Amino acid sequence: MPAKVDMDKIVSLCKRRGLVFPSSEIYGGLASCWDYGPMGVELKRNVRDAWWKAIVHERDDVVGLDTSIMMHPGVWAASGHIDSFTDPLVECKSCHLRWRADAIEGKGCPKCGGELTEPRMFNLMFKTSMGPVEEEASTIYLRPETAQGIFVNFDNVITTSRKKLPLGIAQIGKSFRNEITTGNFIFRTREFEHMELEYFVKPGTDEKWLDYWVKERFDWYVKLGIRKENLRLRQHGKDELAHYARDCYDIDYLFPMGWSELEGIANRGDFDLIQHAKHSGKELGYYDAEADEKYVPYVIEPSAGVDRSVLAFLIDAYDEEEIEGEKRTLLHLHRDLAPIKVAVLPLSRNEKLTPLAKEVFNKLCPNFVTDYDDSQSIGRRYRRQDEIGTPFCVTIDFESLEDKQVTIRERDSLAQIRVPIEELDKILEAKLKGEAFDASPLWATREK
Ligand code: GAP
Repeated sequence: MPAKVDMDKIVSLCKRRGLVFPSSEIYGGLASCWDYGPMGVELKRNVRDAWWKAIVHERDDVVGLDTSIMMHPGVWAASGHIDSFTDPLVECKSCHLRWRADAIEGKGCPKCGGELTEPRMFNLMFKTSMGPVEEEASTIYLRPETAQGIFVNFDNVITTSRKKLPLGIAQIGKSFRNEITTGNFIFRTREFEHMELEYFVKPGTDEKWLDYWVKERFDWYVKLGIRKENLRLRQHGKDELAHYARDCYDIDYLFPMGWSELEGIANRGDFDLIQHAKHSGKELGYYDAEADEKYVPYVIEPSAGVDRSVLAFLIDAYDEEEIEGEKRTLLHLHRDLAPIKVAVLPLSRNEKLTPLAKEVFNKLCPNFVTDYDDSQSIGRRYRRQDEIGTPFCVTIDFESLEDKQVTIRERDSLAQIRVPIEELDKILEAKLKGEAFDASPLWATREK
């Protein structure tokens, strides 16, 4: 099934509704860099929180970590990134544009057809220098993955957490890659956010755990609303495995430009711990006291991009429909991901309605991310909330002043129920946990 929305519509919605802006826009922008606006920052935070909840908080075999972006340069020699984290680069002899040799078809420059140089290997790590005097400063790198911060802390975590294997260590944070070809909005950028889990297991049980994590991660996207038919699993061929991987599966999503990687789940074996032990001179193993045996654990690594997940959630949620001759654009975002959970909308900006509407807003905002909007017509305000995926709008009308009741409108069905203000937060809490909206069919009507 083809994805039903093209990227331009997503980019334009993101700009229009304050989700994502081009970085440094007033200076003409900076290639492949993006800023998250007021709605985008909430959406991104919700994606991170949903991952952290599923991976760390809801399990007793995973702990969290937050390591620094700049690390000792020896880390990248040991991990193989200095030697092997490279892409083949070719340059057009006429227009001087640079391309990834393995990502272009044919022999000429994709832009002008000009002759291309022979490929040379280009390291994707960003270099910078540490120290006040440039000549004496040491060269360091911005991390291209958060995983290495976890490997070099393996012993610290094992000795302080008093946990047994299998044990996972999770981290969310920025990574940097000087990608040759960027593009497709926030799909591939040079600065992005990783959500990585390194799950340490006894050798011999690694294949079982790889299967386990592939299923867990696939199900996570489905639980948060991505349609199964837009996801697929793809095992890497032997020739495409990263230098550290024994086996790897990609969870691919059907993006507008075609099937592309959303997340990778790799079996890294004992590659990283062995390499760091060799380069640092510190022993990095595990002693199983019950079995009285010592071994170097294998690692299963589910590694996802926050930004790429945000993009997939946006694309899958995007919808257009016609209501009584008018086009409605909406995001069917899962309630856990929606930037705003509840919008409080007085029927009009009227001096009699405003105090009650503010009272309702003040009652809700400590418990839910709530928006207050009293500008423009109620229809336009509903459309605005639909476009950012707000699951519930609460409308205060003149009857509310008399009966102390308000109307809740549900985004997807457009059904409405009228409820007492006193019970509003309890009812919204239940609905935001997934209770069916038509629980009170007597009250339910469809928006006119
Ligand atoms: N530690 C393993 C690792 O980094 P990867 O397949 O290179 O594996 C994992 O990256 C995920 O990180 C990808 O599936 C993607 O979601 C995200 N990612 C990688 N490079 C990215 C980039 N340049 N821009 C945005 N997201 C990226």
